[in-house]
Parts: sequence; structure tokens; C-alpha cells
Amino acid sequence: MTKWAPLQAQHAASIDRHILDLFDETRASVFSVTADGMLFDYSKTNIDSATRDALIALADCSGVAEKRAAMFAGEKINLTEGRAVLHVALRAGPDAVIRVDGQDVLPEVRRIRADCAAFARDVRSGAYTGQGGKITDVVNIGIGGSDLGPAMATLALAPFHDGPRVHFVSNVDGAHIADTLNGLNPETTLVLVASKTFTTIETMTNADTAKRWMAAKVANPAAQFAAVSTAGDKTAAYGIDPARVFGFEDWVGGRYSMWGPIGLSLMIAVGPEAFDQFLAGGRAMDTHFLTAPFADNMPVMLALVGLWHNQICGHATRAVLPYDQRLARLPAYLQQLEMESNGKRVAIDGSDLPTHSGPVVWGEPGTNGQHAFYQLIHQGTRVVPCEFLVARKGHEPDLAHQHLLLVSNCLAQAEALLRGRSLVEARAIMAKKGLTGAELEQQARHRVFPGNRPSTVLAYDQLTPFTLGQIIALYEHRVFVEGVILGLNSYDQWGVELGKELALALQPVLEGRTTTEGKDGSTAALVSFLRR
Ligand code: F6P
Repeated sequence: MTKWAPLQAQHAASIDRHILDLFDETRASVFSVTADGMLFDYSKTNIDSATRDALIALADCSGVAEKRAAMFAGEKINLTEGRAVLHVALRAGPDAVIRVDGQDVLPEVRRIRADCAAFARDVRSGAYTGQGGKITDVVNIGIGGSDLGPAMATLALAPFHDGPRVHFVSNVDGAHIADTLNGLNPETTLVLVASKTFTTIETMTNADTAKRWMAAKVANPAAQFAAVSTAGDKTAAYGIDPARVFGFEDWVGGRYSMWGPIGLSLMIAVGPEAFDQFLAGGRAMDTHFLTAPFADNMPVMLALVGLWHNQICGHATRAVLPYDQRLARLPAYLQQLEMESNGKRVAIDGSDLPTHSGPVVWGEPGTNGQHAFYQLIHQGTRVVPCEFLVARKGHEPDLAHQHLLLVSNCLAQAEALLRGRSLVEARAIMAKKGLTGAELEQQARHRVFPGNRPSTVLAYDQLTPFTLGQIIALYEHRVFVEGVILGLNSYDQWGVELGKELALALQPVLEGRTTTEGKDGSTAALVSFLRR
């Protein structure tokens, strides 16, 4: 019997059950978890007590608690790269001690954070200037983990943004940097090259472009460049003063790095104090994750609900639906966090995974998505588990009526997914409209909502730096728990390598310097079309 068998039996028993029938007066509180003012409600899923017990047993027998302790203790759990996984160290409290190879890493973390804060303050106050005066614009050039986190968070924390304007350039498509630099003043712009490796082709190409743009107007462009990287030798070779280079260690994975110097652009935007609040939120979630029993543990339950829907019920995707416009980039951020982490095909020991790995993650903010893809979510033939996020209050007291509308839409969508609309109800609606006979029947069938579709709601007071820290750490730990139970390494990303290698090899082919020999027919034909 595999460790999944008890849950497969639970699934078989639940298949004809309607989620609505599970509800009694206690279900909403019993099937929800709270953590420091946040509420995760998973009562609108087809999970009952026996299923939850089986899910928790799955976490127990997969060694989640032991692996959690190993991660926080700095053990090298990223086995394919021989590295510790210590993004939690970037937000650890003042008394914490975390050792890697016997050495406490936190004094260095604190030193670099203080350097970043000092630089951020200088940029914000004008103590550090461009060659034309106080910095008005910061352009963060990075991609993947060196872009998505700070870009998502800078938008999320717009009400706290009181520093210079911050822009993010990631795509190697020249359109991205051209459109971003268009209208900026090179004399008052700071370019922040964010790249863990300082070799990523998109980032280095965009950095070169920015340098040329600046050189046309500014005597010493390098003086308006700063870098965030683990590769001090390469940043020096690029001509960036080491005083403006902020390093971090190889135990911080790209997609987990926004808590450290990769968050510098965010820190410049909102200030070091607000950034500290963001760290405090992440730390609060760490403490909760480390101490709450599994049934009351938000990351553990979020992960178990995810595994139930994907690995057990077979729903291949999950939608992340923030009813919070400022979380518009959260789905994109989570795509990297979850899919680069848990989109694997082999277990840690190299054997084939016995189950599917992580789901496809996608989404858009509500209410926009309602007018785009919710049709499929409500009436399509595939079930899409939906993860709603919503705040009790917005940041616009004058527009409280709009916030009310937003919240009511969020709750209504979750309710509609749960309840649906039966054929009997649809017939009654059509009859009221005066339809009869075959026409009534036909029109009614189009208006049936199957319902019984699972969703969860993550509710919080307000999107503040602290709350954002809680949310991001929550999802990080969810990925960890799912990865441990799936038995894979969540912290490498070999799957991005092949495309990078082939792209490098195709460059000279597209330039016409080498032939398409050895290429498949499709690639060769496309090269010849695009080269023309
Ligand atoms: O896409 C692969 C990847 O290595 C990501 O994991 C990483 O976040 C991104 O590229 C950027 O890497 P770097 O920070 O080294 O430029």
C-alpha cells in the first residue's frame, strides 16, 4: 500500500458527495485556520474530518516536521546543488543563530541588510545623487527571482511608496527596456542590476543597453549603477563600485530571495522601516509554521488542500484569484515560486515520481477575471480549484463602497462555485421569463451551474508590509510542504537549462554565421522565415 492509498480511498468515498452537504453550524470554523490575524478558510472543499486526518497522516509519514527542522537548522536539503535552503535566515529575528558548515550566517545577513538600508536611505534622502541631482527613478534590471518578487511587492505596497519611482525591466525583448527608459532622465536615474549569478543573458543584455543609454548623457555611467549579486568578481569586472554591490549567499534561491538584497528596489521605494515590517510578517509566519500543530498550521493545511486537489482529485491547475488589485502580480510571482520549485519529474533519489508533481498555477485579480475566464471555471468541463484572497479593508477610505463591492464579488464567486444552480432552478427562471416546452428546456440547460466546485479563501485585515510578508512566507512554506510530501527537491531548477543552451546555440544561426544543420525541420524552417 502506498502512502497515497488512504487518500485515494477517501476520494472514492467523496466522489458523489456535494460539498454543501458537509456543512453544519461548526464546519466553517473547524475547517479553517488562523495565524496572526489572517484566516484561511477551506470549508468549501470536499474535505471532511476523515480526509483531513488522512492528509495530516500523509504529512506525518512524509517527514514534514523533520525536514522543516532540517531546513531551519541550515542543513543542505538542496541535495542536487549541495546547498542549504535558508531564505528564512534573511528575515530571522535579532537573537536567532543559524549555522551553515558550523558558522553562524546571521551576522553577515544583518551587516548586508544594514548596508542596503543605508544605501536606500541615501538614495531616498538625496545623500547619494545622480550626476544631475537627486535620484528620481530606479530601474531594477533582473529576471525571474531577481524581478518577480520586488516587482510584485512594489505594486502591492503602493500606498507605502514614498521614495523615487521604481521600474522593473526583465524581458530580453528590447521593447521592455526601450519603453521603460523612454522619458526617464539618465542624469537622475539609478540602475540596479539584480542577478544572483550576474551571467543571466537577459539581465546582462539589458544592463548593457542601460549603460549605453546613460553614457549618451552622463560622464560616468558606472557611478549610477548598483548591483545585487552573489558574484562580486563579476560585478567588479563590470565596473560597479563594491560600495554599491550587495551580496548574498548561495543558500538563497532566486525565487526565495526578495527578503534580502534582491528586495533593495522595494526597500528604496517604501523605506527600510516598511521593509522591516515586511520581514516581520514573514518571520511571524515562520514562527507559526514552526510551532502550530499541523491541523492548525496554515502553510501545512494550504499545502494539504493543494495536494488533495491536484494529486488525489486530479485537478491539474489551480487559480490564484486576489480580490486585491495591488496583488495583480501575485499569480505571476507564484507561478515561479510554485512551478519552478515543484515542477519536477524525479524524486530526490533520481527515481521517477510515483504521482504528478505540482499543478499549473495561474490567475488574475478579481473582479477582472470574472469578465474573462470565470465562465470556464463555473461551467467548463474541468474543475479548477480556486484560491481567493481578500482584505477586510482597502487603503482608500473615501472608496469604502467600492471595497464592499469587491468583497461581495469575491464571496459571491466562492458561493456560486459551491452552490451552483440546478436544472430545476434554471427551469423556474426560464418559466418566469415566459418560456415553455422545448425552448424552455434548451435555454435552461445553458443556465445550469454544476456547483460543488472547491475553493478556499485567504482573508486578511489590510494589505500592509506585514501582511504581505505573511502571505509570501505562507506560500513559500506551502511549496516546501508539498515538495517534501511529493519527495522532490523544490530548490533546484534544472528544467530551465536546456532552453538557455539551445538559445545560445541558435544566436549564430539566426545571424547567418552558421547553418541550420542538425536542427529539426521545423526549427530550420522557422529560422529561415525569421532570418529573412
Ligand atoms: O530561470 C532560471 C533562474 O535561474 C531563476 O531561478 C532565477 O530566479 C533567474 O533565472 C534569474 O537568475 P539570476 O538572478 O542569476 O540572474
